[in-house]
Amino acid sequence: MSELQELVEGIRRDLESHLGEGKVADYIPELAKVDPRQLGIAVATIDGGFHTAGDADTPFSIQSISKVFTLTLALGKAGDALWTRVGREPSGTAFNSIVQLEYEKGRPRNPFINAGAIAVADLILAGHQPREAIGEIVHFVRFLAGDDSIAIDHEVAKSETETGYRNLALANFMRSFGRLDHPAEHVLGVYFHHCALAMSCRQLARAGLYLAAGGSNPVLGSRVVSRERARRINALMLMCGHYDGSGDFAYRVGLPGKSGVGGGILAVAPGKASIAVWSPGLDQHGNSLVGTAALELLAQRTGWSVF
Ligand code: DON
Repeated sequence: MSELQELVEGIRRDLESHLGEGKVADYIPELAKVDPRQLGIAVATIDGGFHTAGDADTPFSIQSISKVFTLTLALGKAGDALWTRVGREPSGTAFNSIVQLEYEKGRPRNPFINAGAIAVADLILAGHQPREAIGEIVHFVRFLAGDDSIAIDHEVAKSETETGYRNLALANFMRSFGRLDHPAEHVLGVYFHHCALAMSCRQLARAGLYLAAGGSNPVLGSRVVSRERARRINALMLMCGHYDGSGDFAYRVGLPGKSGVGGGILAVAPGKASIAVWSPGLDQHGNSLVGTAALELLAQRTGWSVF
């Protein structure tokens, strides 16, 4: 067995007694049904190596992790003009906060808080129907992972559509500042569906490889973005990927990372590997509790921290 495989399995074993800690997201009713006593880890190295432990093949709701992929797609369409719509600063407020948006006249602080990702979804819509934009995102994520079986969990999308009052407020509030080109319902149709993409750690680690390997996926041989753009997306993930918990994540793990309320985290060790972990119980900021602990151990034991 390879050293990295042993390391990944060792982390899974060492966290066994912590499984189930944290609180499963319940503001999206479908997510409240997930068994919290699960932990998956997948590491895809840029030389084509692949290592998994635990529940690495169980699909889960990637939620906000999808915002890395929609940002990548929107930058491809709009280029740097995207930054007139969204900032690049850490927010210091919760992912669904509305207060800051008023101070900043409807321009969200960064593309990973809900308001920022809603602005990005508006750019991807670009005059098309929500169905077409959703289809484009799904194809893009399948291309990134090299896996055509990746799909949206429509129960999760429906569940969030029915209860996403706060996101509807954020979208309408931005529209009142003239910051959205499309009706709030259309933009949220895109947003809720990309958040409801279901992926396993294995699929997610593969999809993130382009960020670890300077913009191209070395396993599939496909270029996704330029080296410079990959570096910049990683910088945003480091500063903003865990909302008001981003500082703590950088302190403990020291890698660019993006969390989702489904309990997943995609982390990037530039020049080395793409890592996906999943454990549904969340901390007070909405980030996976045991997933973060797994990444902390991984960074310690591999020495992969960027610092
Ligand atoms: O809009 C929401 O609230 C969810 N679809 C996504 C939030 C999320 O994943 C925040 N992550 N930690």
